Amino acid sequence: MKNNAIGVFDSGLGGLTAVSKLHELLPEENIIYFGDTARLPYGTRSRQTIVRYAKSDLAFLVSKGVKAVLVACGTVSSNAINELQASTDIPIVGVVEASADRACEVAMSGNGKVLLIGTSATVGSKKYEEYINSKYRGIEIISKACPMFVPLVENKLRCGYSIKRMIAAEYLLEIAAQKPDAVILGCTHYILLADVLKELFYRSVLIDSGEEAAKRMKKTLETDGLISPTEGKTEYYVSDGSEEFLGKASVFMQDDIKSVELIDIENYN
Ligand code: DGL
Repeated sequence: MKNNAIGVFDSGLGGLTAVSKLHELLPEENIIYFGDTARLPYGTRSRQTIVRYAKSDLAFLVSKGVKAVLVACGTVSSNAINELQASTDIPIVGVVEASADRACEVAMSGNGKVLLIGTSATVGSKKYEEYINSKYRGIEIISKACPMFVPLVENKLRCGYSIKRMIAAEYLLEIAAQKPDAVILGCTHYILLADVLKELFYRSVLIDSGEEAAKRMKKTLETDGLISPTEGKTEYYVSDGSEEFLGKASVFMQDDIKSVELIDIENYN
């Protein structure tokens, strides 16, 4: 088991930002990545559908014999983590607890204010509020759904800075005036908008949820005695548009991805 790969999944390509952090933190671990590009986006779907999709994504990775799974999707982490954890014995690490802990650490040495931005399903789930209120006192959480951000990032190659700036300002300019200490980028796509977000939140610390989850995964593997340096090889799988995946992947991570395999995710339940 120890020598098996770490599984990572997202609705699409955003989770690659977490994979690139895993490559930095655990360069010798094997990784299996799945991007459910056929069913993207998840962030506009009902909780019931998100749970169903997430279960099949997990089933695919489990069929590959992974030793642990990083849910590199804010939407799934907020809406389906309990169901995923209940369905298997392997460790399942999501983005919520890791990024909320980091944000609260920052906020506690400031004015106690945290802003969460994410997909409509992430913000609607109230998972961050539930977790933070159960663990911390005196933290004020504000949240804002930014539903245009995922398509914006997915089309980044064709869209300039001024358009990104305009859309980000539309969602967040007013809220930025509240000067949060920490801004949780609750969707793994959003770190790709760091340039415009840094400009809007120049006083705040931006929390990259993919990076925090990757750090949490490293800790979990260490605690569970599951660290095992192997070949450091990563395999990539998608459920649609493999050519497009190869074309866009470099936007999300530095590594040169040479091949990706297409799978039929409907075969996994
Ligand atoms: N990267 C996913 C997330 O973190 C994108 C969600 C979507 O597919 O809408 O929420």
